Amino acid sequence: MSFWKKHKKVETNVTLLTVLSLVVVSVGGLVEIAPLFYLESTIEKVQGMRPYTPLELAGRQIYIREGCYTCHSQMVRPMRDEEERYGHFSLAAESMYDHPFQWGSKRTGPDLARVGGRYSDEWHVQHLADPREVVPESIMPAYGFLADRHLHYDHAASHLEANAAVGVPYTAEMIASATLDVLSQARPDSDLADVDALIERYGDNVQARAFDGDPTDVTEMDALVAYLQMLGTLVDFSTYDPLAAENLR
Ligand code: HEC
Repeated sequence: MSFWKKHKKVETNVTLLTVLSLVVVSVGGLVEIAPLFYLESTIEKVQGMRPYTPLELAGRQIYIREGCYTCHSQMVRPMRDEEERYGHFSLAAESMYDHPFQWGSKRTGPDLARVGGRYSDEWHVQHLADPREVVPESIMPAYGFLADRHLHYDHAASHLEANAAVGVPYTAEMIASATLDVLSQARPDSDLADVDALIERYGDNVQARAFDGDPTDVTEMDALVAYLQMLGTLVDFSTYDPLAAENLR
């Protein structure tokens, strides 16, 4: 019997076709899925990644609340034009503490994954208050009211706790100091602030200052700008080597 005759038999016998299809799909599935269980990690470990500070986390919440993700993505794809415009492509590790992640699916505005440090705080405050004042052709809505809204951070500890419950490595000490850390980061000059303790908990790459330019109150603008200025800056790409042994595991 030639190959085609045998194949005809499979095609005309529903039971045989179903059984053989199942065999093919199972083998394919095993080949794709089984290796994942033997990988030590599906996310490469990179230096510099740390959980967000309570202030950045609050800013991230405002980013979500205001729907910034409907116009902005946070994922630089590994393509030449993207890398030339935005910088190094995003690593999986860079969104490992995002619950929920903010990769986005639409770019009415530019990608924000690496916007941190690209502009001054003043630029951000002015741009958020009146986008057309700095970028005349902008269609971005204005968010000036954030500068007038006091940031309610009494629940900062529960916010950290919720993130810890889904796997972000916040320690008991970080949770207990959450409200103090918000104050220390946004109002480092205030009497109660303890910036050294904040840096000890979260690392050297924490920036502490009055992000909205007004040191007298912690506003939602402080939190949002702190979050934006941190985006994409945690991993030091001048020393990151994608081919280093620890990144190939
Ligand atoms: C209706 C769509 C829209 C929404 C919603 C929106 N943006 Fe934008 N955004 C834009 C557009 C368009 C630009 C490019 C023009 C400009 O710079 O204003 C932009 C630019 C930016 C830039 C400058 C990026 C760069 O690399 O130059 C930042 C930062 C930014 N937006 C932050 C935000 C934040 C934070 C929010 C939420 C509070 C937000 N945007 C909401 C459309 C939007």
